[in-house]
Amino acid sequence: MSDQKNISGFRKNKRKSPSRGKSSSQGYERKSERKSARGSEYKSERNAARGSEYKSARRSAPNAARRSEHRGNYTDRPAVPRRPHNKVAFAKPGNQLYPIPAVMVSCYDPDTGRPNIFTVAWTGTICSDPPMVSISVRRERFSYGLICRTQEFVINLTTEKLARAADFCGVRSGRDIDKFEALGLTPGKSCKIDTPTVDESPVSIECRVTQTIELGSHVMFLAEMVCVQADEAYMDEKNTFHLEDARPIAYSHGTYYALGRPLGQFGFSVMKDRTKKKKQREKAAASSSRR
Ligand SMILES: Cc1cc2nc3c(=O)[nH]c(=O)nc-3n(C[C@H](O)[C@H](O)[C@H](O)COP(=O)(O)O)c2cc1C
Repeated sequence: MSDQKNISGFRKNKRKSPSRGKSSSQGYERKSERKSARGSEYKSERNAARGSEYKSARRSAPNAARRSEHRGNYTDRPAVPRRPHNKVAFAKPGNQLYPIPAVMVSCYDPDTGRPNIFTVAWTGTICSDPPMVSISVRRERFSYGLICRTQEFVINLTTEKLARAADFCGVRSGRDIDKFEALGLTPGKSCKIDTPTVDESPVSIECRVTQTIELGSHVMFLAEMVCVQADEAYMDEKNTFHLEDARPIAYSHGTYYALGRPLGQFGFSVMKDRTKKKKQREKAAASSSRR
């Protein structure tokens, strides 16, 4: 219960200071960690970019009107009146590559066998053959020491159902609590490594570290995927896996998002009409058979 409180507290704090510029450049990083990255130069540029005309327009527009004037707004924050297209350069770049996945990485203590989960947004696919991924981890994370010792971890994909758990694993440390237990999650058996998976995740990617690169604030673990476990619940009769049915989520500028409607498949920009129609027919047949 107290954990629940803390999670909503975390959200409330975000709302109390709804300065859009801040959250957009901050990503998952916590306030104290981010302070050093925000130079005064950056702030004054940002302030200058927000003219007084713009500010008074925001103050005068009632919330409801502001919301309806900007239909593309996915959040419940007041809509920002659009200014004319003009790219502003930031003297101090922050991480701006969004949207990205926010995955639940499981690891374990080789001495006690106790498993842990922490959330990682600085992750990505880095090679197709051999299939490789990376995660970037701050040295102060409890999980950092565990991964250094075991040289392995599991990337567990997150879904709408797992969003709360993913957030919790990113704001609580395994030094203080057993996150599997606190969240009622099940450690699953990996095929090729000793680290447990998160059984409730639709896809668990077992990874063995091949290289460790010291970057600065973060240490990047490059790892080979040695096995992927996918939940049969999302497979059709032809064993094709439909991740979209698991409702995966994305993370952008500090907010978790459900994915929206599909816009096209790989290569759709050059696909012949005949092929497009055939694919649509196949897709409709497959989804009606899954229902
Ligand atoms: C959405 C989100 C993404 C995060 N991404 C990372 C990351 O990429 N690297 C990292 O070191 N910490 C990241 N964190 C912070 C850690 O997950 C967090 O400090 C966690 O409590 C560490 O757990 P541990 O002490 O049990 O290892 C993220 C947190 C959240 C909420």
